[in-house]
Amino acid sequence: EEINIFQTCLLAWYSKNKRRLPWREIAEVEEDENKRGYCVWVSEIMLQQTQVATVISYYNRWMEKFPTVKTLSQGTLEDVHKLWAGLGYYSRGTRLLEGAKKIEDQMNGQVPQSSSELIKIPGIGRYTACAVASIAYGERKGVVDGNVLRVMTRLRLIGSDVTNQETVEHIWSLADQVVDQDRPGDFNQAVMELGAAVCLPRNPLCAACPISSICKAFERTRIPKPKNKNRK
Ligand code: ADE
Repeated sequence: EEINIFQTCLLAWYSKNKRRLPWREIAEVEEDENKRGYCVWVSEIMLQQTQVATVISYYNRWMEKFPTVKTLSQGTLEDVHKLWAGLGYYSRGTRLLEGAKKIEDQMNGQVPQSSSELIKIPGIGRYTACAVASIAYGERKGVVDGNVLRVMTRLRLIGSDVTNQETVEHIWSLADQVVDQDRPGDFNQAVMELGAAVCLPRNPLCAACPISSICKAFERTRIPKPKNKNRK
């Protein structure tokens, strides 16, 4: 029931408020599934240490130069680093090139469609594997990044230190439990978007939050504790 509210309210909010981003358009309308996987993979790698607003033009230039896994696999490190100039963390670009070569040489040019296979690609860790599999291919997997951690710990009033590995593991299993079974990719992006736009680190905009009615942190801060009249 509570999970149902979480999914329904969040997805409705996302449909209304999501930013139209080039890789989202692709994930939603592109029929060539290999192209979808490739585009989501590139976007998620670029988004790892870089803000959305900065990524857009880099992503568009990248896709002009390397529209497919095959074209990327035939590219040079020099091409890749030229396109990456200004984004930082150049090893991300290096791994993308390595990954494309591996997919061309060993996987028949097909981007793996499951998180368990994606994670074998250079530069793809747990987050990226689950993000690509859910967004491009509809695998029912949750994802956890910094924004998701903040949203989930507030929602469930999980007070423990989010740098603690056990807490992070707990949130990963929660993310799998709550992910929408029909729209896992939209759901995952919606949680990230909520964390980026509403459930802000310092001053969360609870009045604009679609899931405040089920948020334990909101309940805690909104309702003052009743005074104990018998206390001395
Ligand atoms: N940050 C990283 N990937 C994202 C995505 N797909 N949507 C929103 N924020 C993100």
